[in-house]
Amino acid sequence: MPKTKQLFFCKECGYESPKWMGQCPACKEWNTFTEAPVSGKKNGAFRNGAVRGAGVIGAPVKPSRINDVDVSDEDRYVTGIGEFDRVLGGGIVKGSLTLVGGDPGIGKSTLLLQVCGKLAVDGRKVFYVSGEESLKQIKMRADRIGEFGDNLLLLSETSLDIVEELIFGGLNFEKSVSAENTDQTETEMSESANSGKAQKPDIIVIDSIQTIYREDIDAAPGSVSQVRECTASLLKIAKQEGISVFIVGHVTKEGVVAGPRMLEHMVDTVLYFEGDNVAVYRMLRAVKNRFGSTNELGVFEMKGNGLCEVINPSEYMLQGRPDNEPGSVISCALEGTRPIMAEIQALVSRTSFNYPRRTAVGLDLNRVTLLMAVMEKRMGVQLSDHDAYVNVAGGMRVNEPSLDLAVVSAILSSFRNRAVDPKTFIFGEVGLVGEVRGVNFSSKRVAEALKMGYNICIMPKANLEQVKDIPMKCIGIQNIRELSDYI
Ligand code: TYD
Ligand code: MG
Repeated sequence: MPKTKQLFFCKECGYESPKWMGQCPACKEWNTFTEAPVSGKKNGAFRNGAVRGAGVIGAPVKPSRINDVDVSDEDRYVTGIGEFDRVLGGGIVKGSLTLVGGDPGIGKSTLLLQVCGKLAVDGRKVFYVSGEESLKQIKMRADRIGEFGDNLLLLSETSLDIVEELIFGGLNFEKSVSAENTDQTETEMSESANSGKAQKPDIIVIDSIQTIYREDIDAAPGSVSQVRECTASLLKIAKQEGISVFIVGHVTKEGVVAGPRMLEHMVDTVLYFEGDNVAVYRMLRAVKNRFGSTNELGVFEMKGNGLCEVINPSEYMLQGRPDNEPGSVISCALEGTRPIMAEIQALVSRTSFNYPRRTAVGLDLNRVTLLMAVMEKRMGVQLSDHDAYVNVAGGMRVNEPSLDLAVVSAILSSFRNRAVDPKTFIFGEVGLVGEVRGVNFSSKRVAEALKMGYNICIMPKANLEQVKDIPMKCIGIQNIRELSDYI
C-alpha cells in the first residue's frame, strides 16, 4: 500500500494546506479545516480539477493556437429525455464528469437509471455502479421504469479500485446480467478478463460518491479525502478514456464531513435535482456547465413508473388555480431561457400578535418584507398590523425581482379583499421608491402568457416598446400607486 500523508482540507471548498487554519483563505469560512490523509501516489489527485495537457492526462504539454483547437469532435450522447438533454446543453458530452446533487430520496438514482436505460436501448454501453443498493433493489426499481436492453451492466460495489479494475480491464456487454446474479463481481471480472470482446463502457454512473472509497486512502467513505481522491480518479477515467461519468452526491447537512460543494470545482457540470417534499414535481437545474448555459431548468414529475417529463410547466404550475379569489396573481418567471407562469398567492389578515408574522414560501422572505415596507410607505397601505403569508403555488421557487410587482399586487389584492381579473397577468421589478422598473425578456413573458390564454398584462412602462407587436392588451405602469386602478 502506498504511503499516505496528512493534509488539512477546507470542508466547504476543498482548499488544502499543510497546517490547520481557523479561517479558510479561499472561501473565508471559519472552522472548516479538517485533517485527512491524501494519496501518496503521483497523479493521485488533480488539485481542484486541474488536468494536465490538452484536457487529457499524459498528453504532451505544448501550447496551442486558439484557432487550431479542434472542437468538431465534441460528441454528445442524446438520451431522448428532452428535459435532461436540454439542461446539459444538448446531451451528454463524451468524456465529461457530471455531478448530480440533491437531497436523499429526491429521485437522483431514478433519474440516472432512466437515463441509463434510454442510452442502453440506443446501443450505448452503460456501467451503473451502486454503493447504496443491491442489484435486486436496482432491478426492482428498473422494473417500474421500463425497458433496459442488454447494454446496461450493474454492479453493487463500494471499492473504487475494483470498479477501476473492471473499467480498465474491459467489460463484457455481450451477455446480460440478471438480477439473481448477486455474486457477479468476481464472475464478471474473470469473465471480462477471459473474454476477447471486453469493451470499455461509454457511460459510467457512480451512485453515490459518499459511499465509494479508495483502498489506499486511510479514511472513511464520505470523508473529505475519500471524496476528493475518488472524484480525482473518476476525473482521470473520464478524461483519459473519454467515458462520460456521472456521480451522485447527496447534499449533506451542515457538519457532515464532505458535501458535494467541494466537488463542484473538480467536475465539468453540476446538476441539482430539487423539489418539494410534498409536491410530486422535481426540478433539474444546471448550476455549473462547461458545455452549455447554466440556469437551464428541466421539470419532471415523479409517478408510479418513474420520472416523467413535464413538457409544459406553465400549464402544470397553474392547474387548480382559483378564479376570482383575492390574493391570487399570475406572473411569469424566467428559468434559464424558459418562461414559466407562476401563481403568487398572498394572505393578509389582521394580526393577533404584538409583532406581525410574515412568511414566504418559494420567495425570498427579505424581499417580501422589503416590498411590504415599500407598499406601506409609498402607497399608504397600513400593513404593519397585519400578518402576511406569501406563497408561490405549485411549490416552485423563484428568485427573480421581476415577480415583485405580482407580489405587491397579490398582497394588495388580499388586503383589499378584491380579486384581480383572472385573465390578467403581472410582472415587473419594484424599486425602493415605489417605481416599477423594466425587466429583461419581457416579450418572452408576454408571449408565454398569450399562449396560456391571458389577455391583459400589467407591466413596466419601460418594457412596452418590446411587446408592441404582441396581440395582448398591455398596460404600462411607472409606479406601484397606479396598481390601485386595477385592484
Ligand atoms: P431515489 O431515486 O431513490 O432517490 P435518491 O437516489 O435521490 O435518494 O428516489 C426514490 C423516491 O422516488 C422514493 O421515495 C420512491 C419514489 N419513486 C416513485 O415514486 N416512483 C418510481 O417509479 C420510483 C422508481 C421511485
Ligand atoms: Mg439513490
